[in-house]
Amino acid sequence: MPLVNTKFMFKKAYAEHYAIGAFNVCNMETVQGIAEACKQAQSPIIFQVSPGAQKYAGIKYLANLVKIAVDKTGIEAALHLDHGNSFELCKTCIENGFTSVMIDGSSLEFDKNIELTKKVVDYARNKNISVESELGRLQGVEDHVECPNEHSLFTDPEQVKEFVEKTGVDSLAIAIGTSHGVNKFGPDTVPDLKFDILKKIEKIAPGFPIVLHGASSVNKNIIQELLKFGVNISGAKGVPEEMLCKAAKMSVCKINIDSDLRLAITLAIKKFMAENPEKFDPRGYFGAAREAVCELVKNKILNVLGSFKKSEP
Ligand code: G3H
Ligand code: 13P
Ligand code: ZN
Repeated sequence: MPLVNTKFMFKKAYAEHYAIGAFNVCNMETVQGIAEACKQAQSPIIFQVSPGAQKYAGIKYLANLVKIAVDKTGIEAALHLDHGNSFELCKTCIENGFTSVMIDGSSLEFDKNIELTKKVVDYARNKNISVESELGRLQGVEDHVECPNEHSLFTDPEQVKEFVEKTGVDSLAIAIGTSHGVNKFGPDTVPDLKFDILKKIEKIAPGFPIVLHGASSVNKNIIQELLKFGVNISGAKGVPEEMLCKAAKMSVCKINIDSDLRLAITLAIKKFMAENPEKFDPRGYFGAAREAVCELVKNKILNVLGSFKKSEP
């Protein structure tokens, strides 16, 4: 199956109350692990590539790895630019076969965000490419957008209708308490998402697909094991899976996960090295990382996203 855009995926996900996982990829092993998981679980998926991943691996390497994986496995998949920071980057990604782009104008004033988003939508529209943008600001570090906690802003539901109407955007990332990275909630803070905001948005824009960034759950067992290996991430805390399940049953159609992949990969490599001190063939530890990615994605599909057996035949 060729790469698809996300419009039909989201329509079905919205109607059937599940979400599509959007996983960040940066090398062959992440692409292969995700593709294998989706093949086994017959789940649709979004491979997403950040500007940082493009800087690391190159846009053509990553785009072609995804295309080959999709071709080989026959999965239903989209290739998406994550946190696109300029019109030019969106254009370059589209020229390289991406089927969906995010233009992240969340750090701009409302009117400027509308202007930039509309420019990308106008360009993408007749090319059958979906466009995601962001309204409100997540805490933490977003690739090129750094947002200190005191400046984070929950999405204002009143602005959503105007934003969607004026831009014609296909989906919208909102801020309801998630954040990027592994420290989403302070050590003494109980994880909390603003479901009241999500409900209001759902009422204001019925049928419109919402995106949740910063949606890693930061598994406690993985953190414990990583701490034993000396990885300095004490206090790490993510979004509880039950909250993501609840969001997926509402208007959230896309759930972004990167940090959980990073944690699983790091643990798999550390474990492999500790258990096999005599081995130094990179295929050993990269292979273990690829298996860990596959397991993690399968678990997300089954326990969080609800997209098991939802792919188009
Ligand atoms: O939202 C950010 C993603 O986790 C990508 O992170 O910019 O380090 O590739 P990155
Ligand atoms: P996490 O850091 O929670 O995995 O979020 C990833 C993300 O939002 C990518 O855009
Ligand atoms: Zn993000």
